[in-house]
Amino acid sequence: MKLAIEELENVLNSIKIESAEELENFKLTYLSRKGKLSALIQQFRTVAPEDKKTFGKPINILKKKYEVFLTEKQKIFCEGKKDSNLFDNDIPLNAKKYGSLHPIKITENKIYEIFYSMGFDLREGPEIEDDWHNFTALNFEEEHPARDMQDTFFIGEKVLRTHTSSVQIREMEKGTPPFRIVMPGRVYRNEAISSRSNCFFHQIEGLYIDKGVNFADLKQTLYSFVQQLFGPNTKIRFRSSYFPFTEPSAEMDIWAGLDTEDARRLTKGTGWLEVMGCGMVHPNVLTNCNIDPEVYSGFAFGMGIDRMTMLKYNIGDIRDLFNNDTRFLKQFEGEI
Ligand code: DAH
Repeated sequence: MKLAIEELENVLNSIKIESAEELENFKLTYLSRKGKLSALIQQFRTVAPEDKKTFGKPINILKKKYEVFLTEKQKIFCEGKKDSNLFDNDIPLNAKKYGSLHPIKITENKIYEIFYSMGFDLREGPEIEDDWHNFTALNFEEEHPARDMQDTFFIGEKVLRTHTSSVQIREMEKGTPPFRIVMPGRVYRNEAISSRSNCFFHQIEGLYIDKGVNFADLKQTLYSFVQQLFGPNTKIRFRSSYFPFTEPSAEMDIWAGLDTEDARRLTKGTGWLEVMGCGMVHPNVLTNCNIDPEVYSGFAFGMGIDRMTMLKYNIGDIRDLFNNDTRFLKQFEGEI
């Protein structure tokens, strides 16, 4: 027995453990139920009572030494391994867990996709505009009451754009026809805030200029768009209207129905929701951008993305879109 104790002591002094597998083997050989240390303890149980005193203490010390040895080696080889298990570089990121697109962006993407499929390109312009691009080039005369249609926020000489129509001008000034583009962006108006209006919102502007474009093209393009966004049975109507930059001008409404209280409030009890203005680009606007109105014609439209979002997702109050309440936003997780 004395020999066995010494032998096991020597093992601790001389053994080299350099990996988790070696540690595992060591445990098996010495510390498992059938291992050498257990065998020694078994053997000790059978020794004569008078020998127990002699061997009891060194065996206990030996057992302790093995335990300490094991915990130290485990610290080196096993805990490190546990940590590396916790952090697995290869697990793919789950993008959904890190937020989601805002419903307005989701709707904007859907709108853009539809126009893209009809051959429209994407353009953007600045939110801080000058008077020329926001008003004058769009045929708003100086002192003309039409300028009051849109309550403007001024920043010194500049304005916060009241509509994305300013981007039409920038694009037509830059290039040459034909143009077939959509231009999304944020716009600002000094309006009373309610369930239907906010002091900033989002529009997407459309412009199609080429030779021989007519009002039938406008109607068909918008009709086809609405059917793709809201489904083939969507009802729309065009009402004649006035914008200084289009002639003739129209407003397009979508049938939201009168079935729910939200729909009634949103449509002021008519069932129809006004979603965009449109028309044939006024010859003065083309001239302002150095395009010959005798050669080219075209249509333009500007729609409220927020209203489209409300219609698409049955949202009764525009303010829900800007409160950043995560309980509301969570509903759109996973949509693109
Ligand atoms: N800019 C107009 C608005 O904000 C909407 C609009 C109407 C845009 C007619 C257009 C258009 O391009 O042709 O109320």
